[in-house]
Amino acid sequence: MELYEQLTAQGDKVRSLKTAKADKADVDAAIQLLLKLKVDYKEVTGQDYKAGCPPSGTAVSNDRQSENGGEEDTVDPWNVATNSAKGVDYDKLIVRFGSSKIDQELVDRIEKVSGQKPHRFLRRGIFFSHRDMNQVLDAYEKQKSFYLYTGRGPSSQAMHVGHLIPFVFTKWLQDVFDIPLVIQLTDDEKYLWKDLSLEDCHRFAEENAKDIIACGFDVNKTFIFSDLDYMGSSPEFYRNVVKVQKHVTFNQVKGIFGFSDSDCIGKISFPAIQAAPAFSSSFPQIFKGRKDVQCLIPCAIDQDPYFRMTRDVAPRIGYPKPALLHSTFFPALQGAQTKMSASDANSSIFLTDTPKQIKNKVNKHAFSGGKDTIEEHREQGGNPDIDVAFMYLTFFMEDDEQLEKIRQDYTSGILLTGELKKMLIETLQPMITAHQENRKNVTDEMVKQFMTPRPLNFNF
Ligand code: TRP
Repeated sequence: MELYEQLTAQGDKVRSLKTAKADKADVDAAIQLLLKLKVDYKEVTGQDYKAGCPPSGTAVSNDRQSENGGEEDTVDPWNVATNSAKGVDYDKLIVRFGSSKIDQELVDRIEKVSGQKPHRFLRRGIFFSHRDMNQVLDAYEKQKSFYLYTGRGPSSQAMHVGHLIPFVFTKWLQDVFDIPLVIQLTDDEKYLWKDLSLEDCHRFAEENAKDIIACGFDVNKTFIFSDLDYMGSSPEFYRNVVKVQKHVTFNQVKGIFGFSDSDCIGKISFPAIQAAPAFSSSFPQIFKGRKDVQCLIPCAIDQDPYFRMTRDVAPRIGYPKPALLHSTFFPALQGAQTKMSASDANSSIFLTDTPKQIKNKVNKHAFSGGKDTIEEHREQGGNPDIDVAFMYLTFFMEDDEQLEKIRQDYTSGILLTGELKKMLIETLQPMITAHQENRKNVTDEMVKQFMTPRPLNFNF
């Protein structure tokens, strides 16, 4: 009850700060505390805080504990796991990582500055956290441009729908802000971490590039590179790698990434290679040697450790800190306890799946929040918060009203699990088929164009 009252007071404080148009830093600090209180509240009561609804029940305090075994969610570049069927507690991650929540105010601001309706990933909290996005928008309003950087670790030929999320969103950002984009394919990283040959990793990079290009990027505005190729051809890139390496100690990377004495030295120094593209001087052909162009990195939140390190070294080597936009994970078919994984065929919808495979996988494997029998379902309704078919629709269905109606009908029991799954299948099938068509039209020649270091259509 005490926490509840504290939370209510803090909520009021945030609102009054916002109305008073208080200093951004003060508002952010107040929101950060509010989120932290919400996390504590959930831990103590086992319930989500709802304004105006004091905590109910008495024996609830163990609920959350048994729900997740009392342990923290695991989120790092190599593992994502939680015991909660609703998925990772993202508010808690914001507090743990010290990032900021993408609230309605920021979404509105992005709409205002870009002049476009916010992407559904923003409207629905799929990109939910950020670092310094307000600073990027401030500068953009003053005609100071920025660039986008994202990437992918090419660990296999097989990409699944979850892999597209950052690219779909990055494409939208590129279109609405009209800015350059660099995409890093970390074939070196996959060689160091997996039991794969260098040649295979490099080949996967080129194959994955086709799927990325199929998302519709403009060749005049986009540079895609394989580390194995670009590192050796760009003195400026390598100089930045070395600068980062000089300013981060083994102790620091141990703390950030959990490396141990028995990890190969390639792993230990790799974070510097993922950091370098966040500095514009790594791409002199694009930025004409300018080292002060601000970078914005859209990525899944598990990549944040790399960029916390990058932001930490940036000022020490004379560069601006990259800003970030973080996404949630794309849940596995079996449930939001973990993310989709390319190495488990049944957990994923691949970009190469046929309409029939899609249908079978959704029907067979998608974890349902529905009830066991139709009678029960009609009577009690389903739970969309743990239902994978519903979660996927929030990623891919464009129409907000239609999605909301589905949520209500499923919750009330009007809509059955089979019907919900059918809607998902009918959303996914044409989407994947269209992707396959686009990919077929990507020639080796086009891949080569995208992957050749060259000036882009921007004047820096
Ligand atoms: N490490 C990432 C992966 O394994 C790939 C990557 C490199 C990346 N640079 C990035 C992802 C920048 C997002 C943003 O998938």
